[in-house]
Amino acid sequence: MNPLFLQAERFVCAEMDGRLIGFGQVRPLDGGGGSFEVASLLVDEAERGKGIGSAIVRRLLERHGTKGTLYLLTLSKTTPFWERFGFRLVGSDQDTSLPALLRLERSAGTLVAGGLLGQTVVVMTKDE
Ligand SMILES: CC(C)(COP(=O)(O)OP(=O)(O)OC[C@H]1O[C@@H](n2cnc3c(N)ncnc32)[C@H](O)[C@@H]1OP(=O)(O)O)[C@@H](O)C(=O)NCCC(=O)NCCS
Repeated sequence: MNPLFLQAERFVCAEMDGRLIGFGQVRPLDGGGGSFEVASLLVDEAERGKGIGSAIVRRLLERHGTKGTLYLLTLSKTTPFWERFGFRLVGSDQDTSLPALLRLERSAGTLVAGGLLGQTVVVMTKDE
């Protein structure tokens, strides 16, 4: 997770017995230009596969409504999870129309994920 400019009110958190077990956020990508990013989604390893990640995403989408275009960056292996919520892969022909901050984050993510995990970082979007 990019630790810069975190704002608590953007997060949806899941709690069990007073323990934080998952969270995710939607944050603006271009300061009011209408592009947003679903980011920082994480569920405690021991609690995965119980619907918690899906519940967090559903709540984030519900709260976001139709305010603008949603994007996200994810590892290529996680795209099936996001497709369930209506996200689709952004084709390389659409690359230049992506918000600059997203392209920057993807480059940084690819360095880390590509180098350490041998994974590709992909961009997905959800139509309004
Ligand atoms: C991705 C993540 C948030 C899902 O949380 P979760 O609480 O396990 O999600 P759910 O229980 O709601 O899973 C919903 C479904 O998605 C599937 N799924 C979860 N992670 C997946 C992945 N990486 N690839 C494919 N499918 C996946 C689950 O198998 C489950 O399928 P099922 O309903 O048929 O059993 C969690 O695995 C995680 O924290 N991963 C590490 C961080 C990460 O990858 N974050 C997203 C990147 S932006």
